[in-house]
Amino acid sequence: MPAIATAATTSHAAILGIGAYRPRRVVPNAEIVDLIDSSDEWIRTRSGITSRRWAQDDETIVSMSVAAARDALAAAGIDAERIDAVVLATSSQMVLGPSAGAVVASELGMHDTAAFDVSAGCAGFCYALGNAAGLVRSGQARHVLVIGVERLSDLLDPTDRTCAFIFADGAGAVVVGPSDTEGIGPVAWGSDGTQTAAIKQDKDFKTFFAEVAEAAGSGTAPERPYIRMNGAAVFRWAVTFLEKACRGALDKAGVTVDDLDAFVPHQANSRITDALVRALSLPDSVAVARDIAETGNTSAASIPMAMEQILRSGAAKPGDTALLVGFGAGLAYAGQVVTLPPLP
Ligand code: UT7
Repeated sequence: MPAIATAATTSHAAILGIGAYRPRRVVPNAEIVDLIDSSDEWIRTRSGITSRRWAQDDETIVSMSVAAARDALAAAGIDAERIDAVVLATSSQMVLGPSAGAVVASELGMHDTAAFDVSAGCAGFCYALGNAAGLVRSGQARHVLVIGVERLSDLLDPTDRTCAFIFADGAGAVVVGPSDTEGIGPVAWGSDGTQTAAIKQDKDFKTFFAEVAEAAGSGTAPERPYIRMNGAAVFRWAVTFLEKACRGALDKAGVTVDDLDAFVPHQANSRITDALVRALSLPDSVAVARDIAETGNTSAASIPMAMEQILRSGAAKPGDTALLVGFGAGLAYAGQVVTLPPLP
């Protein structure tokens, strides 16, 4: 039996650069409230959202990813041809194949690059980042492009009081590569499939197409599939369970809240962020990402977009130590401590 060789491993991985793409169209609360019998004040106080971006036709999962990736590559000073793998997290790609990651790799001019998509809801970016760090450390890839991207507006029922004002569109990307010191702590992650009903697409496409066939010629159209959320159940889970996930990520990285410069949680609801800040007793010196105010909840894109925003605002700087935590559909979660990267 031949001895099977092992890839040459490397000790440490880090985020080398970051970029984001925000769709052009700003949608204020005022544009949404009438169809859900709500108000700007209710949305601001219950979620922290004042406006969000919804993509237009030309702002696709691929085009937004490519734009964010170009900035991340520029920030890292890495040419696209030096990327060995693309790991793309999304839950709103409207085709089952090819993977968006493979198309993005091609659009960026990469050839023969490993590429795949990750479906882990709003935890998707942190799942992808954990995988990317593992690929780099294990020697399976030297540089990995990690993307979180969503076009959730495609899945929104405009009359749904729980989802219509929360979810939004955008993309964030980072380049992960080898480093002299550790820049991505071990991931603390998990999932609870008994709670799938808490956030899900309400109807599968097979059912929808059967309904379309049945309705043919009747003059009626079936409702298309939409994303649905039991907001209160997810809120409860987030504010009771996620402290443990955050502490798990801190413990695995061997740091405490006093070592943190920034906290970048998934931008689900500013009240969830507030609850986590309190539960973790974060010192006042820790900058807290509040990108939700003008970006909404962009699921798998929210953490890289919020990281980019907190860096661009100057509230945190490259080299700072940050705790990330993503959570949502699954229900799934993932968190890790990272060193913040440079902007382009
Ligand atoms: O990204 C994936 C993870 N997602 C999350 O983490 C989201 C978690 N959940 C949430 O953020 C919150 O549950 C929501 C923002 C979605 C909803 O806020 P809530 O405080 O949980 O609202 P609720 O469903 O408990 O409803 C409270 C009240 C009710 O009125 P009464 O019964 O107290 O009179 C609702 O009828 O608010 C009312 N309400 C609304 N009012 C105006 C519910 N939705 C709306 C609305 N506008 N859109």
